[in-house]
Amino acid sequence: MNGIKLRGTGSCVPRHVVTNEDLSRRMETSDAWITSRTGIRRRHHCGDESAAELCVQAARAALSRAGVAPEEIGVCIVATVTPEDLVPSAACTLQQALGLPEDTLCFDLNAACTGFLFALHTMECLLNASPRKFGLVLGAEALSRIINWEDRSTAILFGDGAAAAVVECREGWPSIGAVYGCRGDRTLLHVAGPGSGKRSLISMEGTQVFKFAVETIPRCMDAVLTRHGLGADDVDFFVFHQANARIIDLVVRKYAIPPEKYAKNLEEFGNTSAASIPLLLAQLEAEGTIGPGSRVLLVGFGGGLTWGAAIVEFTQGGRND
Ligand code: UT7
Repeated sequence: MNGIKLRGTGSCVPRHVVTNEDLSRRMETSDAWITSRTGIRRRHHCGDESAAELCVQAARAALSRAGVAPEEIGVCIVATVTPEDLVPSAACTLQQALGLPEDTLCFDLNAACTGFLFALHTMECLLNASPRKFGLVLGAEALSRIINWEDRSTAILFGDGAAAAVVECREGWPSIGAVYGCRGDRTLLHVAGPGSGKRSLISMEGTQVFKFAVETIPRCMDAVLTRHGLGADDVDFFVFHQANARIIDLVVRKYAIPPEKYAKNLEEFGNTSAASIPLLLAQLEAEGTIGPGSRVLLVGFGGGLTWGAAIVEFTQGGRND
């Protein structure tokens, strides 16, 4: 199988910022508790913006950065648990808004916080069967729409945003070698769907999910490094799902990852589920921390339960077709 590389990323977050102080006026919590237990200080929540609008802006930014035209896209996948509409899918809505060809394979994918990882792996498989060699992968969420404001342990965590990556598939490129898994569980993390007749609100056993995360991330990292025949030192940058700063700190300590090789942005965005990994990728690419030739290890984990990791490279820039 031919591998994919990232050609360009882009992102869009809502204008409205909700600070910890704002939340402490709404519920019994404090900036000190939220900051020390999670690392989150602010998050962006949709006001009049729709999740679909965020997707369009993020996708346009990624296409422009990648130097790829909409008509060159063969597959478009949006990883999300909070699409604006169930039908049409967020990806079909993008097809129309961006003018993607009608034979572009467009669909949404639900793997909660591991959505972007599952989507990248799916994209690699599908681009191998596509006549066009470019794909659009998004992680996008409007989690503020499904926050349970009666539950302070989860209401403080989540933010909204969308981020996109244009990927390219070329003969001879190595696979991203994704590792992934799931374990069906409705007790630790649950959001009811429209078929249940219940309101869609997030519920989570936070402490149990925290334990799951700190066990699962190293398992994923070891598996993906072994699959690629690499050591942690061979990786240029580590991008973890931004759920809790304490989870990231534990993993970074375990692998002795130096500060210049990882980043956290949950202070500004909170936990944006499927959007969290591409939001950070887009930020790092925009500031020049990662770019042409960078080898980046991505790790996701969360609802499902789901987990996954992959090692992706950025293209060297320049079109070779
Ligand atoms: O993205 C998908 C994956 N998700 C994750 O990885 C999330 C993983 N879990 C977590 O990040 C953490 O478990 C939370 C941040 C959700 C919670 O932190 P915790 O340290 O596990 O807190 P806890 O739920 O065990 O609660 C500790 C105390 C409790 O009080 P008592 O019983 O000790 O008196 C809670 O009632 O903190 C209290 N508490 C709060 N206090 C102030 C819970 N939420 C709040 C709050 N403000 N917002």
